[in-house]
Amino acid sequence: KVLVLDFGGQYNLLVARRVRECGVYCEIRSWRESMEHIRAFQPDALIFTGGPATVFEPNAPMVDPALFSMGIPVLGICYGQQLMIHLLGGQCRRAETREYGKVELTHNGKSPLFKDIPATAVYWMSHGVEVETLAPGFEVVASTDGCRCAAIQCAEKQLYGVQFHPEVLHTQYGKELLQNFLYGICGFTAEWTMASYLEEAVAECRAKIGSGRVLLALSGGVDSSVAAALLQRAVGDQLTCIFVDHGLLRKDEGDQVEEVMTHQFHVDVRRVNAKDRFLSRLAGVTDPEAKRKIIGEEFIRVFEAEAKKIGAVDFLAQGTIYPDVVESGLGGESVVIKSHHNVGGLPDCVDFKDIVEPLRRLFKDEVRQLGIELGLPEQLVWRQPFPGPGLAIRVIGEITEEKLEILRDADAIFREEMALAGLDRTTSQYFAVLTSVRSVGVMGDERTYDYTLALRAVQSQDFMTATWSRLPYELLDKVSGRIVGEVKHINRIVYDITSKPPATVEWE
Ligand code: XMP
Repeated sequence: KVLVLDFGGQYNLLVARRVRECGVYCEIRSWRESMEHIRAFQPDALIFTGGPATVFEPNAPMVDPALFSMGIPVLGICYGQQLMIHLLGGQCRRAETREYGKVELTHNGKSPLFKDIPATAVYWMSHGVEVETLAPGFEVVASTDGCRCAAIQCAEKQLYGVQFHPEVLHTQYGKELLQNFLYGICGFTAEWTMASYLEEAVAECRAKIGSGRVLLALSGGVDSSVAAALLQRAVGDQLTCIFVDHGLLRKDEGDQVEEVMTHQFHVDVRRVNAKDRFLSRLAGVTDPEAKRKIIGEEFIRVFEAEAKKIGAVDFLAQGTIYPDVVESGLGGESVVIKSHHNVGGLPDCVDFKDIVEPLRRLFKDEVRQLGIELGLPEQLVWRQPFPGPGLAIRVIGEITEEKLEILRDADAIFREEMALAGLDRTTSQYFAVLTSVRSVGVMGDERTYDYTLALRAVQSQDFMTATWSRLPYELLDKVSGRIVGEVKHINRIVYDITSKPPATVEWE
């Protein structure tokens, strides 16, 4: 397995994802990790990520040089390369030309890193510092016009460094280069598959849970559904799920989740139909934050009441995934990017001894693969992200049952057409928003005065930023025609063409 040491670079999670995509298991740890912990992890190779620091300035992140004599291959990327050279007796300096973006690079054919990669290709650069003098034993194997040490090696000690970012898709042969490192240099084979992970995870859950009882909050989303299916396979009816249906899910979603989990997977699901409770508390509320707060509080109350009926359990299961762990500052070097707002505080109201998080080591795409491996329907596995407060934050202003109904029908048409156009998996998130604006229209010679619906579709890697999707006009036209024709009380459709920032993905 590979240990990715994180120096705070913006692509750190990507590095780990790419390694796993090559079928090699890896974990990310902060550069602050002690030598003792690193040894205990027993890595077969190390990768140092990039980072914002400058290696020759005070307080730059440093590591124990003993890492280079563990007898395992090391690949340093960007800051990682500079650090390796700095610690082994070479020197770095501020680059004369700061390289940013796609840059042409030529390698000399002497490095196993570039095996079978064309001599000249495009690589992604983002640096203002470069290696000036190599450390003893190192040689240059690739250069660009602006950077002599674009790739270096000390093959004898299996130390390699690249100034560019192989993990970024703009690097033409990034994947091949990582494969050369992992397969050719380190000798890994592609063994990390979801089938093998599933077996391991089931065995691990069984060992941890024993004959204990497990409680899981099922939301209808991908993560909690996959966690439920996996735990059911591991411990069968020792698992109980509580599914709080707040009546703010999309069309037929609640029934689908219940159907799949109960009938196909034989999971013990306690569905609480709490729609009336939620709607009556939301009546007349128009402020977005107030809505979110009410839903959050009510959710915990309902969950708590249901959990009380079940009594004490041994374990509380959660569908936490790897990016949550890393972004909450527990895995790598990332600052806390978002505090998780979906089930905050939930563990406090349940009487349990320990937490089980069977997806804690997986990326989102791996969770989806695992779901397929477990036999969950594709439709559920490929579900897009959906906010905890559900449609309540997509009905702008006051929520009524009628408005929810209108939105559900319109949203279902949009989703259906996106799937027919083959854009449902490549578009990060897409949905309809019911504005409370009414406008005048004309339908069959008659004046109408009805709601305006907005369509939203975005592309995003991490949802911290997003760009609006350039959906084909023909598709927008078809969706617009169908919604106005099929859904009552909508007579105007607009398409949201703002990116995030300055807008957010959701309207409230
Ligand atoms: P925003 O609107 O903040 O959304 O740009 C970014 C992503 O987060 C989702 N989102 C939520 N997810 N609970 C969630 O679990 C929430 O309260 C929540 N609010 C927004 C949103 O759908 C998008 O994917």
